[in-house]
This record gives sequence, structure tokens and C-alpha cells, in this order.
Amino acid sequence: MNQLILTTNFGLEDLVADEFRRVADRAELVFDAVEEQPDGFEGQVRVVTDAPAVESVSVCRELRSIHHILRYIRRFDIGDDEPLDRIYEGVFEQDIPEMAEAGSFRVTSNRHGEHAFTSMDVQDVAGQALVDHYGTDVDLEEFDCEVRVDIIDRDCLIGVQYTRDSLSKRHPRVFSPKVSLKTNVAWAMVKLARLNRHGAETLVDPFCGAGTILIEAAQLNPTLTVHGSDAWQKAADGAAVNADHAGVGEQVETFCRDALELSDHYEPGAVDAIITNPPFGLSLHKDTDFGQFYRRLLREMVEVLAPGGRVVMLVDKRGVFRDALGDIPELETRHVRIVETGGIYPGMYVLQKEG
Ligand SMILES: C[S@@+](CC[C@H](N)C(=O)[O-])C[C@H]1O[C@@H](n2cnc3c(N)ncnc32)[C@H](O)[C@@H]1O
Repeated sequence: MNQLILTTNFGLEDLVADEFRRVADRAELVFDAVEEQPDGFEGQVRVVTDAPAVESVSVCRELRSIHHILRYIRRFDIGDDEPLDRIYEGVFEQDIPEMAEAGSFRVTSNRHGEHAFTSMDVQDVAGQALVDHYGTDVDLEEFDCEVRVDIIDRDCLIGVQYTRDSLSKRHPRVFSPKVSLKTNVAWAMVKLARLNRHGAETLVDPFCGAGTILIEAAQLNPTLTVHGSDAWQKAADGAAVNADHAGVGEQVETFCRDALELSDHYEPGAVDAIITNPPFGLSLHKDTDFGQFYRRLLREMVEVLAPGGRVVMLVDKRGVFRDALGDIPELETRHVRIVETGGIYPGMYVLQKEG
């Protein structure tokens, strides 16, 4: 029995489980179970299969909804007393088959919860334990084996990570602004828009930034016309360059425009879907009236959307947004979920125009 953990953003676990089932069926990979948030761990999905690890890992690499693929080997309580000593002992005692064959290794650690130590401290003690156990060299760049030592509240989980870079780093980012959506979150937004089911032909992201949503939408829907715009000229140009490098340059067109003037650029009803993440509170002027901003934006969207057209939007000021939506009866809320992104917990809203 082989148990793999697929990591993702909190809030996307069900979409990962669905995608895994689809991809596994297509690849004829037989699996016994798919569990969202196994043992209550957020941002994880566990898949259980009899197939050899090489085969199941290779199938999981095709998923667009995940960051990493790993296998946990041991879980233990770090207690309250000298937790770093407990971590050292737990890692030292553990046999890790992949380490026996590795010429070099590195440790990475994800930590959730309140602790008096950092992830770096965990990496240091766990790395020392592995050197003492196996006599193998640490190499942070050219390692053969990546050992994961995750701390979730009082639990220590020891495992092996099969993915080197996050699978969500799949677009070559020539233009890379400070704030950008992860590709797997953009993928989830595109999925929730159900473009095929609604026969969408034109999609717009009016706050396109680096163009992550544009690229995911174009790659998933090769016949879709995809428009992006941004009030920042550098982003409008950069998103086009990124789309080119991702192989969808011909499908994507970008413009430098204010999102609050959408209706100046599209005929009423000309847009089938809008998928976007407007700036979160921090990046706008501190005096911005978000209620007014959302109301103006939603009215513009209603004007350009086709009847039955969908909006998928990531919004951090959920209360203000809900109030604004209350004033726009043309848009029905079809679905809302909370998703973690960069330590913030915005709402992912799926809205549909009446029609
Ligand atoms: C959160 S970022 C979008 C990130 C994008 N989804 C990505 O993956 O790169 C928000 C973007 O909105 C742009 N922006 C801010 N106010 C705007 C406005 N009124 N009209 C159009 N774009 C605006 C910013 O320049 C920024 O690029």
C-alpha cells in the first residue's frame, strides 16, 4: 500500500481530489482512497494506491491543482518539553529508504501553529539527525533526496518529497511583479467558471497583473478568446510577454485600462466570463472606499456580461463585498469558498448574471 500526500492551498482540497480522480482514471491508475484534509491537515489530500510509487507519482505530476507530492513515513507528538530535542530524536531513529541510497540530501520544513522555534530550527536539527544517522552530505542545491519534516501544531511528520520545485511554478515568468496569483489558484478559478458548460467564447481579466489567469484559461480552453487588462502599463505589457512564453501568445491580448471603465471597451453582453483578482486592501490607497469600488466594478461587469455569464473573483474584504453584491440584483451568488493565498484568506466568489 502506497500513500501519497498532495499539497495545495487550504480551500482547494475538493478540487484536487476531483482532479486526481479524473487524471488517475484517464491513466488507468487504480486507487483505493482519496481523502481531503487527512487527519485534519489543511491543504492536503491523501491518495492510497497499490501501484508502485514511481507510477503513482508520475500520474500525480500531471495535476494542475497541487504544489507538491510527498509521502509521510512517520508522525509523532513533539510534546511541550524541549520539542527540538524530540524532533532530533524522532528523525534520528527513523529509517528512510530513499536516504539509504542518496549521495546527498536536504531537509525542508513547513510549520503551522504557535511554536517557540522556526522552520529553520527544525531544518537544522533534522538535518543534523540525518547526518548523524546516515553520514550523508547536505547539499541544498544538488540533492538526491528531499526529506520533509513538517510541524503541524504538536505533530511532527517525517516524509520524502518527490517534487523539487512546486508544480504550480509552471509558467516561465519573464515579467514577475511582487504580487501574483499561484497558477493552481488561477486554475481553480477557471474550473469554477465552467467555461465549457456555459459555451464561453470570450474571457476577460480586468486586473491581469502578470497574466496568470489569462494563461491558465488559454491553456485549458484553446478556442477561447482571452483578454487581459491592467491600469499599470508595465503589467499589461508584461502579461503579454508571459503569455507568449507560455505558448498562448496568439490567444491572449492585453491592454492598459482601468477596470472601472470596462463598459467603455466592450459592447453590452459581449463578454462571456470574467475571472479576476482585484488588488487586496493593502495595495490600494488607504482611503479607498472598498464598498464604492466593488459596487462600481460589479455594475461595469453586469453591463458587459452576456446573460448567464459568470464572474469568478477573489476578494479579501468579504463583508464589504457581500454588502456591495446585495445592491446588484442582476448577479446571483452561485458559490463561495474561503481559500488561503499568501497567508491571507480571501473569498472565491462565483457569480452568475441572470438570463
Ligand atoms: C492582485 S494583482 C493581480 C495579480 C494577477 N492575478 C497575477 O496573477 O499576476 C492586482 C492588479 O490590479 C491592478 N490594478 C489596480 N487598480 C486597477 C484598476 N483600477 N484597473 C485595472 N487594474 C488595476 C494592479 O496594477 C495589479 O496588477
